[in-house]
Amino acid sequence: MTILDPEPTATAVRRFPDGFLLGAAAAAYQIEGAAHEGGRTDSIWDAFSRVPGAVINADNGDVACDHYHRYRDDVALMKELGLNAYRFSTSWARVRPDGGPVNPEGVDFYSRLVDELLGAGIVPWLTLYHWDLPQALEERGGWANRDTAYRFRDYALSLHDALGDRVDIWTTLNEPWCSSFLSYTGGAHAPGRQDVAAGLAAAHHLMLGHGLAVQALRERDPSLELGITLNLTNAKPVDPTSPGDLDAARRIDGQFNRVFLDPIFRGHYAGDLLADVGHLGLRDVIRPGDLEIISTPIDALGVNYYHGEFVSSLPPEERHGGEAPTERPTRSPFPAAEGVHFHARGLPQTVMGWEVEPDGLRELLGRVHREYTGPAGVRLLVTENGAAYDDEVSPDGAIHDVERTEFLLSHLGAILDAIDEGTPVHGYFYWSILDNFEWAWGYDKRFGIVRVDYDTQERTIKDSGLAYQRVIRHRALPAASAR
Ligand code: FCB
Repeated sequence: MTILDPEPTATAVRRFPDGFLLGAAAAAYQIEGAAHEGGRTDSIWDAFSRVPGAVINADNGDVACDHYHRYRDDVALMKELGLNAYRFSTSWARVRPDGGPVNPEGVDFYSRLVDELLGAGIVPWLTLYHWDLPQALEERGGWANRDTAYRFRDYALSLHDALGDRVDIWTTLNEPWCSSFLSYTGGAHAPGRQDVAAGLAAAHHLMLGHGLAVQALRERDPSLELGITLNLTNAKPVDPTSPGDLDAARRIDGQFNRVFLDPIFRGHYAGDLLADVGHLGLRDVIRPGDLEIISTPIDALGVNYYHGEFVSSLPPEERHGGEAPTERPTRSPFPAAEGVHFHARGLPQTVMGWEVEPDGLRELLGRVHREYTGPAGVRLLVTENGAAYDDEVSPDGAIHDVERTEFLLSHLGAILDAIDEGTPVHGYFYWSILDNFEWAWGYDKRFGIVRVDYDTQERTIKDSGLAYQRVIRHRALPAASAR
């Protein structure tokens, strides 16, 4: 049997549990376009895209996938694929331009999108913040300014005013690691600052904004399903017997995973993390009561998983991929990881230079369940996972993206492995439904299961999308041996 067989036989398939959501994801700035329409004003990504050298080919999100105008067709495509749920984000700069009063036209776009999704039988999985802070708020200090957390709560409530009658699932933030450390410390993402203290302040204030929004939304409607999405990794020592390598792995685990997981689930920052970064600015921004707010109980944790980290105190012989894409100088996003070196394992890589390690997802989900979500009774889902490859359009117009198809199926297999070993996982969202604006990589990298021709805006379902469509239709995965 191959994955192209229409009806997998019972013996060669692995079934998803009832209620498991099979979906796909995208984010406002990466697909909407209409950057200067409908009352929207600049976000930090509009401003950053204008900085010379910040984004490959000086690309920007002005047009992107023109989803703002084509959302009906895009939802029809999602329905054709059979998606159970669509994870999208709302643009703060569209809903409350400049962080000011509510813009009815901006809210209306999301209201129409939600109606379209519900009409198609697709669960709207809403994320309030996928990195596009209004530029006007950045000019008042951005996430390094504590006040932004309170503005975020107000923005969340404005959207709830408009959509609360139809949207049940609310995610506060997508990947706060990126919107703090990569953006305020490393400088590779908007707003492009390179300041260790600002990155730590941003991380804490993002957490505070998350907690304030969860409290306020819960008060509005106790029946909402509230959560957050974190990008997490397995940080492994190159040599598990080397104290230097073990310390490198501990630092990366601390400054990537635990810096967010501990405050949310345990109401504290871990002692070792505070010893590493407390004096670099973190302690200065923690106020009494903050951690109680941040640890307000949530219902769902979304994990975004792309690759693991293999670290050592010794440099690798050859540099491995995945470095900053542009010529603009950037620095390490980690506040206190000088002397930590990232190694390749020799695994296959995507064109991002990210190593492909599906079993790492099984391992990561198991750890998160054991240490965090399980004890808290919080639903665990994979809210992003995907791969960029250099797609080719065949003469017949098809996109035979064999590597992406295998990536998708093998990671779904890893989730079933996790479930088999006792880790409850409730859903999976492939990143991304469409090729789109991949941040500092511009349009150079394609993650979609649907190809976008940026000249014509034509959409074509890739082979990976067709394979996913079959998986969703049968709610089953062909066994690896049968692929
Ligand atoms: C994640 C982001 C998403 C996309 C993928 C490839 O970190 O959340 O917007 O860029 O990576």
